[in-house]
Amino acid sequence: MGKINVLVHGALGKMGQEVLRALCRDPELEAVAGVDLKANDKELILPDGSRSIPLSTDLESTLERYHPDVLVDFTAAKATMAAVRTAVKHNVRLVIGTTGLSTTDLDEIKSLCQSRGVGAVVAPNFSLAAVVMIHLAKMAARFFDYAEIIEMHHEQKVDAPSGTAIATAREMVSSRGKAFLHTSATHESIASSRGGELDGVALHSVRLPGMLAHQEVILGAPGQTLRIRLDQINREAFMPCVTLAIKKVVEFNEAVFSLNQLLGLEEGNC
Ligand SMILES: NC(=O)c1ccc[n+]([C@@H]2O[C@H](COP(=O)([O-])OP(=O)(O)OC[C@H]3O[C@@H](n4cnc5c(N)ncnc54)[C@H](O)[C@@H]3O)[C@@H](O)[C@H]2O)c1
Repeated sequence: MGKINVLVHGALGKMGQEVLRALCRDPELEAVAGVDLKANDKELILPDGSRSIPLSTDLESTLERYHPDVLVDFTAAKATMAAVRTAVKHNVRLVIGTTGLSTTDLDEIKSLCQSRGVGAVVAPNFSLAAVVMIHLAKMAARFFDYAEIIEMHHEQKVDAPSGTAIATAREMVSSRGKAFLHTSATHESIASSRGGELDGVALHSVRLPGMLAHQEVILGAPGQTLRIRLDQINREAFMPCVTLAIKKVVEFNEAVFSLNQLLGLEEGNC
């Protein structure tokens, strides 16, 4: 099989640039075009300086002209949904890393992909460590009645709590089959001090310069706590699973919302 041709949506962004860097390193993948709202030039020099690719603000015409096999999207939730509708119409598979997508958005991605038989991988966190963390947290969730999640990100992150924290809480609750126990403060002198709450899991968001992406899941039982800690120190952490998703998605004809299947972490292994 020849190389898989990839269009990067959000090509001028921090993640878009990292994806282009990863594509340059992988002999099975080829960057064929970039699309970004902020594109002023018609060409984009690849991060390794090897060559330029076409750059545009117009996704539809770029798809029509360069026929990518896969569109990788790291943009913003609204931009993602417009891109999904356009890409599916052109039978282009999707690898979506943008966070902040609602359950309505996810349902729409699922039904659009199903109706056209187009593959997609949608994951709020492509870091291998994050996927394994969620797997471990799911495993632990069955044995503890109380759980809280502290997620810590750089100060420019726009959404809170992080997609990974929400996904972790959802997976933990589903593994337990019921909500966790949650205690609210009877007197909260500063509003929201107990954080947000998802089915009994308290969620706390920290936003600070000097951080990239970190998360701690703390499970509590009488006389003991279990902490599972994740630290992503640079954006390269996401790339092995992004390139794996690009290679796998070409075999899919529906949307997949977890990397577990790609990594062989099936339910039964939990
Ligand atoms: N899934 C993961 O593993 C993972 C990891 C890191 C970041 N993210 C998410 O990826 C997204 C992007 O993160 P980032 O740090 O690269 O942000 P960024 O702001 O650096 O880049 C986003 C890029 O998208 C472009 N964009 C915005 N709207 C657009 C539109 N309508 N059409 C075309 N391009 C558009 C912007 O111009 C920008 O260049 C965020 O949602 C972030 O939370 C996910």
